[in-house]
Amino acid sequence: MKRLGVNIDHIATLRNARGEKHPNPVFAAKEVIKLGADSVTIHLREDRRHINDLDTKEICALNKVLVNLEVSMNSEIIKKALKYKPNYICIVPENRKEITTEGGLNLKDNYKKLKEIIFKFKKSNIRTSLFINPNLNDIKLSRKLNVDCVEIHTGKLANYVKSHKNFSSELNRIKKSSKLASKLDIEVHAGHGLDYKTTKILTKIKEIEEFNIGHFIIGEAIFYGLPKVIKDFKKIIKN
Ligand code: PXP
Repeated sequence: MKRLGVNIDHIATLRNARGEKHPNPVFAAKEVIKLGADSVTIHLREDRRHINDLDTKEICALNKVLVNLEVSMNSEIIKKALKYKPNYICIVPENRKEITTEGGLNLKDNYKKLKEIIFKFKKSNIRTSLFINPNLNDIKLSRKLNVDCVEIHTGKLANYVKSHKNFSSELNRIKKSSKLASKLDIEVHAGHGLDYKTTKILTKIKEIEEFNIGHFIIGEAIFYGLPKVIKDFKKIIKN
């Protein structure tokens, strides 16, 4: 059964636009689970542009809410993550000037650092994932790094689909990477830039077990409401 993780960072973006307390990401975390999401994703960025430390602390402390915390390799952020103890961690690359996470991690250049970080999270019994581009070398390196899961960056595929370009090579890369990961006993997730159409395309890859979707869900919910949007995604993911 494929799972849906809802990224609620942009609830905090909206809250921060006013510098007040509404809309509240902690309420959002509880609400999306009530509405059928399997987990909640938040990204504690170094520049705290959306989710902040207090949000992270409070969301990680919620009962019956599985929390997937995205973190960079920054040592201050890693320390906070170990303190707040989310259920899951996804290590992502981070660049202060980017609008959003633009690609997967460079596993080769960061191998030693990642090995140390993954060891710490796994010692704390936190399911650990690496956000990677869809290529076979990175899957093999992920195995060597001993992670539980990989999240495949689907941004490129999403851009091709949205601009009506041929996406078959990119989809094939995602398919092959997912198959190898699964064969090597690494759980496969997918995320970034996903909407109804791209998610539907990816559901054909049986190895993908979890989708983490944020911006489109929150944006679409402005028009149709979270209950409908989450329900529609669950339906797509189930089929
Ligand atoms: N997965 C990861 C690892 C991400 O970094 C992001 C963006 O923060 C997402 C999923 C969600 O991407 P989007 O907001 O484009 O759906």
